[in-house]
Amino acid sequence: MSSRTYAITGSASGLGAETRRLLLQQGHRVIGIDLRDAEVCVDLADAADRRRAIDRVEELSAGRVNAVIACAGISGGTGRPEPIVRVNYFGTIDILEGLRPLLARSSEPRAVAVTSVATLTTGSDDPVVRACLDGDEERAVAAAVTADHNLGTAAYAASKRALSIWTRRRAPAADWAGAGIALNAVGPGLIATPMTEYLLAPERRAQTEADVPMPFGGVGEPRHVASLLAWLTSIDNGRVTGQVIFVDGGYDVLHRGEDIW
Ligand SMILES: NC(=O)c1ccc[n+]([C@@H]2O[C@H](COP(=O)([O-])OP(=O)(O)OC[C@H]3O[C@@H](n4cnc5c(N)ncnc54)[C@H](O)[C@@H]3O)[C@@H](O)[C@H]2O)c1
Repeated sequence: MSSRTYAITGSASGLGAETRRLLLQQGHRVIGIDLRDAEVCVDLADAADRRRAIDRVEELSAGRVNAVIACAGISGGTGRPEPIVRVNYFGTIDILEGLRPLLARSSEPRAVAVTSVATLTTGSDDPVVRACLDGDEERAVAAAVTADHNLGTAAYAASKRALSIWTRRRAPAADWAGAGIALNAVGPGLIATPMTEYLLAPERRAQTEADVPMPFGGVGEPRHVASLLAWLTSIDNGRVTGQVIFVDGGYDVLHRGEDIW
C-alpha cells in the first residue's frame, strides 16, 4: 500500500488516537491536530487558531494531504454549550473547508467528519442547528447558551445534527465530489473512550446502556470506529460519499425503524 498523508483532529485521545495508531501501523504519515500532544497544537474553539492549524498543516505537508479525519469534539456531559458548538461544528467544518484545497491537489482525496448518534435526538428546526447551517457562529452560540433545558446535551445533539446535515449538503458539490473528494460522516454510538468514562462508570453503566441500547455487541471499542474511518479515507473507497454511517451496534435501526432519514 502506498503511503498517504493524513490530517487528524482530536488525534491525542480516544477515536482520533486509535485512528492515528492504525494509520501509522499501515505506513501512512499522520499530522495530528489537538490541544496538546500533537504535531499542531491549537484550540479549535478559536477561529484564529483554526486558521493557524490550516496554515501549519499546509507547511508540514508541502501543500498536499490525501485525507482529513475530523474527530475533535467535546462531550455534552461537560455542560458547556459554547465550546461544544464552537468545536463540534464550526471547528470541524472550518478545518475541513480550510484543508479542502490541500485535498484537491492530492491523489485520491477523502475526508470524514465524526458526528454521533445524537444526530437522531434533535430536529433540523432546532435554532442552534439552523444558526450552524447558516454559518452564523455567534448566533449559534447565543442560541445554545439560552436554551431552556439540559444545555450541554442539547448543544451536543444540535452540533452533531448540523454536522451530519452539512456533510450531506456539501458532499455532492462541485468543490467536493466534483473535485474528486469523498466526504462522509461517521456517527458512533457508545464507544469506551475518555469522553464516555463518566457514562460507563460502574454505578452509571446500566442506565447508560438502557438509554443507548446497542443490540449488536453493546458498548464499542475505539478500533470499531477507527477501522471504518481508515477505510472511508483509503483508496479502496471508490464511490461512497455523502453518507452518515452509524457505528452503533444497531441503536439507529432501533431508534428510527424503517425510516432511512
Ligand atoms: N466516544 C463515544 O462514545 C462517542 C460517541 C459519539 C460521538 N463521538 C465523537 O467522537 C469524537 C471523538 O471522541 P472521543 O470519544 O475520542 O473523545 P476524547 O475526549 O477521547 O477525544 C477528543 C479529542 O478532541 C480534542 N479536543 C477537544 N476540544 C478541542 C479543542 N478545543 N481544540 C482541539 N482539540 C480538541 C481533545 O483534546 C481530545 O484529544 C468526538 O467528536 C465525539 O463527539 C464519540
